[in-house]
Amino acid sequence: MWKWKTIIEPFRIKSVEPLGFTTDAERALVLKQAHYNLFNIKADKIMVDLLTDSGTGAMSAMQWGGIMTGDESYAGARSYHNFEDTIKDLTGYQEVIPVHQGRAGEKILMSLIGGKGKYVVSNSHFDTTRANVESSGATAVDLPVKSGLDFDKPAPFKGNMDIDALNKFIKKTGAKNIPLCIMTVTNNSLGGQPVSMENLKAAQSVCRKHNIPMFLDCARFAENAYFIKLREKGFSKMPIKKIAQEMFDTADGAIMSAKKDAFANIGGFIAMNNAGWSEKARQILILTEGFRTYGGLAGRDLEAIAIGLKEILDEKYLQYRISSTEYLGNGLLKCGIPIIRPTGGHGVYVNAKKFLPHIKAKNFPAQSLACQLYLIGGIRTVEIGTLMFGRRDKKGDFLPADMELVRLAIPRRVYTQSHIDYVIEVFKKIAKHKKDIKGLEIVQAPKVLTHFTAKLKPMEQKIEIRKPKAVSCK
Ligand code: F0G
Repeated sequence: MWKWKTIIEPFRIKSVEPLGFTTDAERALVLKQAHYNLFNIKADKIMVDLLTDSGTGAMSAMQWGGIMTGDESYAGARSYHNFEDTIKDLTGYQEVIPVHQGRAGEKILMSLIGGKGKYVVSNSHFDTTRANVESSGATAVDLPVKSGLDFDKPAPFKGNMDIDALNKFIKKTGAKNIPLCIMTVTNNSLGGQPVSMENLKAAQSVCRKHNIPMFLDCARFAENAYFIKLREKGFSKMPIKKIAQEMFDTADGAIMSAKKDAFANIGGFIAMNNAGWSEKARQILILTEGFRTYGGLAGRDLEAIAIGLKEILDEKYLQYRISSTEYLGNGLLKCGIPIIRPTGGHGVYVNAKKFLPHIKAKNFPAQSLACQLYLIGGIRTVEIGTLMFGRRDKKGDFLPADMELVRLAIPRRVYTQSHIDYVIEVFKKIAKHKKDIKGLEIVQAPKVLTHFTAKLKPMEQKIEIRKPKAVSCK
């Protein structure tokens, strides 16, 4: 068969929404009124929204059909059984517990196994996972491979866990204090980079040896499976579903935010084989989420997730998805914008520390760049840096974060290539005057989850007041 060079969107568009066009002056005012915090901007003032790929995807006609036929029975709904059967078939796990979104699953799981003196290990915890581990009293420990922290040097599986570090940590802490290992696929906190099958199997073997259960945080499992197909020996001819099944086989269970690789606007699940844990999880579920066959979701949501979990396995879609993320990454590299290389699955991460070296960490270089993107082009992104991590010293001053990134997360099946070309053009313009971009200062910042509600302002321009020359009046 002839191989075409152009990879096209493998869908046609049936339903559309207008973009939020604004003038330069309007955006300057909106940004000021939002206190230079993009979470405060009304979505209809945004042209291209790359804040997150979570819950922002376009559902298919099949999914919208499922929404209309969803069964809203309180107990034993047909939609629940479709959901359960799909997840059992995909993951091989026998116990399926619906939750309203990923973090609800994390909260339930941590209530079962967390607590003071315990350590949960991971290639990298996502923020909400870390927060749920720590609010249970346990400590979240990230053990990423070193290559994952080198943003400039491409490597195929920068999302991997450092297996030597895992062995050392178990030796130091004692396996009995480690109730869980979580492998996040793909690794969202480190650029959406994939985890190899080899690494999943190596982590499994260490965990089995020490009787530590291993779970996948599988929000983007299909993107990870596609990277395995592309980059790992022995998988190039294997169907995506089979690769995904082999990934799930390495673990004892999974938690998923269905807002990502299930193309749903809301939802999630916990799945596992451990009947004891799942019984306890359902006790908590009924207290906080809902009955075991809906768990905080409407029947129609369960239906949409069941359909989405099948659609995501389409290789044509995954080829388009990964190539379009790469297209944005390559476009930015061509304009000299430093990004995490290679591009990950769901987004492009710009290294603002390198792009704006004249802005000190205490003046939030990544947040300053995110504000410029809005000001110049109406593009919304998210800062992953000093503002998000929000650590302070005793005086209350912000401590610099290890990284200053701006994430451009791409919603699934939402934007076309010309939207992405526009984003690249905006970056090109910004790159030309980057030296003039000023940092930001805090006006008001809460202690927890600072980045959601902090108020900022542009740095004061230091005006030199020169002493007037003494005038002699001879
Ligand atoms: N795990 C991962 C890897 C995630 O990326 C997220 C959410 C969650 C868990 C929590 O899921 O939002 O359904 O409660 N990530 C979003 C993001 C918010 O923008 O990356 P949730």
